[in-house]
Amino acid sequence: MVTIDEERFRESFESYSRIGATENGGLHRLTLTEADKRVRDAFVEDLAELGLEVRVDRIGNIFGRREGTDLDADPVLIGSHLDSQPYGGRFDGQLGVLAALETLRALEDEGVEPNRPIEIVNWTNEEGSRFPNALLGSSVFSGGTELETALSLTDGEGTTVRDALSAIGYDGDHPVEPFDIHAHLELHIEQGPYLEEHGNSLGIVEGVYGMSWLRATITGESDHAGPTPMHTRSDAMAAAADAVSEINRLPNRLSADAVSTVGEFSIAPGSINVVPDTAEFTVDVRSYDDAVVAEAVERVHEEIEHACSRHATSAEVEALWNIESTAFDPEIRDVLEGVADDRGIAYERMPSGAAHDATRINEIAPTAMLFAPSVDGRTHNEDEFTEWEDCVVTAGCYAEAVHQLASE
Ligand code: GLV
Ligand code: MN
Ligand code: MN
Repeated sequence: MVTIDEERFRESFESYSRIGATENGGLHRLTLTEADKRVRDAFVEDLAELGLEVRVDRIGNIFGRREGTDLDADPVLIGSHLDSQPYGGRFDGQLGVLAALETLRALEDEGVEPNRPIEIVNWTNEEGSRFPNALLGSSVFSGGTELETALSLTDGEGTTVRDALSAIGYDGDHPVEPFDIHAHLELHIEQGPYLEEHGNSLGIVEGVYGMSWLRATITGESDHAGPTPMHTRSDAMAAAADAVSEINRLPNRLSADAVSTVGEFSIAPGSINVVPDTAEFTVDVRSYDDAVVAEAVERVHEEIEHACSRHATSAEVEALWNIESTAFDPEIRDVLEGVADDRGIAYERMPSGAAHDATRINEIAPTAMLFAPSVDGRTHNEDEFTEWEDCVVTAGCYAEAVHQLASE
């Protein structure tokens, strides 16, 4: 059995949490920014201290390899992401990377050398909030996204991923290509309310929702806010508001697990006394059932069209990104359940509504995830919190499961 060092784990968590910390106890560490560079540097230093061979690939994913006793065996891959949402939380992604780091340190402390190598990874741009393709590093690694497409993505200021990588010195030279992986395991916070509500300390993730991201641009005509009668207007804002409230009502009509979100919204020209001629917003729709996601996308198109015809405007809707739902490997889930049973930990099996890099790796290798509870289910904000004892319980199970997988 492997035992993690709770104190060291906490110290790492606190020290990484200072990089890009916000005043209100959150993290603002957008991918490929200066803060991301500093946390990457800390991570690389920690890997080097463990004596690991460190590689940075062309999309900036950072890998560290600890050899096993069998030099020909396929590795177990562990890790998550260190980028955050704007004014996001300290646990999303970071907890998984640090649980993986603590796992390697615990194995080292105890002189445990499983037969399989273990590779730790920090994926680039998991969040997708700066460059609008979430799971970017893992998608290129798994073959789901072309490297050139990924490098050419731009942020809101027109900076490409290519330039952002080189600006922080993480435009590595290692090719981005999958290698044979025996098993992949990612630890994450639940980001929903169920573990806490049901009094469970651990979630064993059955799979991840499918999702689609869209961007709608509504075009009307700008005009004076006073003399222009309501019935002659072509108001892009009014059409967008109408569409957004319909999009918000959609999930109820589709399935119990469907969700829809308009997370970005802007209008132009943006003057108090001018009827807006342009409105632009994003849509995120999700469900565990891909058919529901497809239907939601169709209905989003229809609702936008109807709203436009009610307000004499027109719209263009662009598909930004899409990923199908995934089911994780039953054998790794069995390993996780065995570890939880041996430790007497109350767990539940659950799907994930949040996207994870593990989804991408599941396309090329047996993969599973485990969740720590989120207080009040709050996440993607500065209040995101997980009780430290729950982090320790989950990370302890993670370390032991990694040990068992690496000994197979
Ligand atoms: C990433 O956190 C997502 O679920 O969109
Ligand atoms: Mn995450
Ligand atoms: Mn996230």
